[in-house]
Amino acid sequence: MSSTYLVTGAAGFIGSNFLDILVADQEDKRVVVLDKLTYCGNIMSIRHLIDSGRIEFVKGDIADRELVASLLDRYKPQYVINFAAESHVDRSVDDPTPFIKSNFEGVFNLLECCRRQRSAQLASKAEPTLKKYVQISTDEVYGDLEVCAPRPGHKDEAAQLGRTYEMYGEDAFTESYPLKGSSPYSASKASADLLTLSYYRSFGLPVTITRCSNNYGPRQFPEKLIPLVINNILHGKVLPVYGQGTNVRDWIHVDDHARGILAAARHGKPGEVYNFGGYSEKQNIDIVKSLIAIVKDAAAKMPSVAAAYPAALDASDSLITYVTDRPGHDRRYAIDALKAMTTLGWRPLMRFDEGLASTVRWYLENLDWVKSIVDGDYRDYYEHMYANR
Ligand code: NAD
Ligand code: DAU
Repeated sequence: MSSTYLVTGAAGFIGSNFLDILVADQEDKRVVVLDKLTYCGNIMSIRHLIDSGRIEFVKGDIADRELVASLLDRYKPQYVINFAAESHVDRSVDDPTPFIKSNFEGVFNLLECCRRQRSAQLASKAEPTLKKYVQISTDEVYGDLEVCAPRPGHKDEAAQLGRTYEMYGEDAFTESYPLKGSSPYSASKASADLLTLSYYRSFGLPVTITRCSNNYGPRQFPEKLIPLVINNILHGKVLPVYGQGTNVRDWIHVDDHARGILAAARHGKPGEVYNFGGYSEKQNIDIVKSLIAIVKDAAAKMPSVAAAYPAALDASDSLITYVTDRPGHDRRYAIDALKAMTTLGWRPLMRFDEGLASTVRWYLENLDWVKSIVDGDYRDYYEHMYANR
């Protein structure tokens, strides 16, 4: 039997990559996308799917009660998968307001519309149509961990992964770790997680939460570290590294995350949380240095890039500039994803060095996509965020 998916916030980075994986999957399905197209939502990222008729697109806000209720009524989705959010920590420190509106009030509206539909269906003795509401959350809800000297990772996880890995500390976040977000962004996501779980306990709504570490890959908005550094290298601009550059993030390729979300939607247990991580902990400064070498090498092999961005050919570590730290900057994130590996049969497949090189290639081969962003309001954003750092 065919399923219908309502995917919210899918014109953004992770959502658009998720859609590519969802539509390529064998299952017969209908996919409806609801996205407000904020500064971060980009219709170019999903144009190929709209034009080929693989998805239906509706522009709108997840916090709009009438709109969401009418979409649920019209499409009766089996799956609602919510990516929609304000997602950038620095912006949340600058102005928390839109984070509370989209990340908390928006999620409340989605849950409430789903609850009302389910209770109306139950009242009329009909089978509830919604099989799963998936809330896409983040490892940032757990707060941060200390940074120590790197050491070999745990044996159980290495056995599941089929490879060894390094940790910058003994500890990693499990699903039962206390919630302790440091920024208005992470606090808004943690609040939404608690609300989501309450809808399972109080109303029996079949919800599942996914919490993932830092994603990288195609179509990430260049306010985030990796695409920002790639773009600055192309333009010969300084590379702003917050604080000492020693903060650690656990990087996962967006396709690995997307496969995890699909597994959680189809096979995750209602009321449960699943962590996803890449088992690729890196200090920021090492990421920036790797990008300098990769972009320089890739640009030299692509004549059109070398001609348009000659500065990339001269890139060196001298571009690195240590700037004032982010307020409340989380020191380290590390994910324990054993639950997803043992119960969903999921594991991250992409090796970080291969994934980073292919990500750089994507940006250099899609300069129109990048240009459409960095030529617009992004300039004002950059000036506002970085001028006095
Ligand atoms: P993004 O900022 O690239 O995309 C967010 C999308 O949501 C955009 O298309 C935007 O237009 C849309 N949106 C925002 N507010 C909306 C609203 N009120 N109504 C409808 N649409 C709205 O974000 P992303 O990096 O793709 O992240 C997607 C989700 O994954 C977020 O919930 C984020 O918290 C979570 N997450 C991100 C990462 C990461 O590393 N990027 C890691 C873990 C979890
Ligand atoms: O861990 C998951 C989270 O990862 C997601 O929930 C967020 O939506 C996503 O934005 C990301 O948050 P981070 O704050 O970790 O990502 P960001 O790319 O902003 O920063 C990564 C690290 O790089 C962080 O330690 C801050 C640092 N940084 C960032 C920028 C933009 C710099 O040193 N310089 C910069 O210019």
